[in-house]
Amino acid sequence: MSGRRPLISGNWKMNLTHLDAINLVQKLSYSLADATRRVDVSVHPPFTALRSVQTILDVDDVPIALGAQNVHWQAGGAYTGEISPAMLAKLNVRYVIVGHSERRQLFGETDEDVNKKVKAVLAAGMVPILCVGETLGEREEGRTAEKVLGQLRAGLSGLDSAAIAGMVVAYEPIWAIGTGRTATPDDAQAVCAAVRRAIAADAGEAAAASVRIQYGGSVKAGNIAELMSGSDIDGALVGGASLDPEEFTAIVSYR
Ligand code: PGA
Repeated sequence: MSGRRPLISGNWKMNLTHLDAINLVQKLSYSLADATRRVDVSVHPPFTALRSVQTILDVDDVPIALGAQNVHWQAGGAYTGEISPAMLAKLNVRYVIVGHSERRQLFGETDEDVNKKVKAVLAAGMVPILCVGETLGEREEGRTAEKVLGQLRAGLSGLDSAAIAGMVVAYEPIWAIGTGRTATPDDAQAVCAAVRRAIAADAGEAAAASVRIQYGGSVKAGNIAELMSGSDIDGALVGGASLDPEEFTAIVSYR
């Protein structure tokens, strides 16, 4: 046992109106009541549903943490269409996904942007979930470690060990996201172990022992238990399957 509490996060992406989101979180508040005693759970609705979901979680004291999918690093000002860390923190957002591969690939986020976002999330008292992962081409060329550890080091640049210790890193091979293809448990464990070793080398053993590392990419009820058996895998970032309350409940109840 690592002593790290598992964290399973549902990334709802650009799905669900605030009314659909209320419906889903109400179902989860009942179905996850038992499993959340053993596993930390976060849900990451679109910005338009954060306030509605927050109200339900807070009023009923539901042990599901609120998460966001993105943030801007600036505190405020003339940045049309963006959301600041303080706006999220005020909604009791605890976890913020940063550098998801869809943000990097579709919206041009750079490692430098990601690093600024990580720092801004931490400065606002929230926990970044820093996403890293390789493309299929990079994997086939044997460049998985180079890509993943490069993104990791860039994302964590300038942070002290204590900050890194409290963070979450999500290893998400891009070829496994939304494709139904999952990394084998051995491959997922190997990359997560490499992430932890890199953190140990750069930030020390204590930070490496406490940082939580999630696997993401086509996680389902049918593969979660095997993935979670990897000693360096502390949880999962779940996309598509997190929109289905029965499936997500089965994932969170994997043990
Ligand atoms: P998926 O998405 O579970 O639908 O593959 C994972 C993610 O993008 O975080």
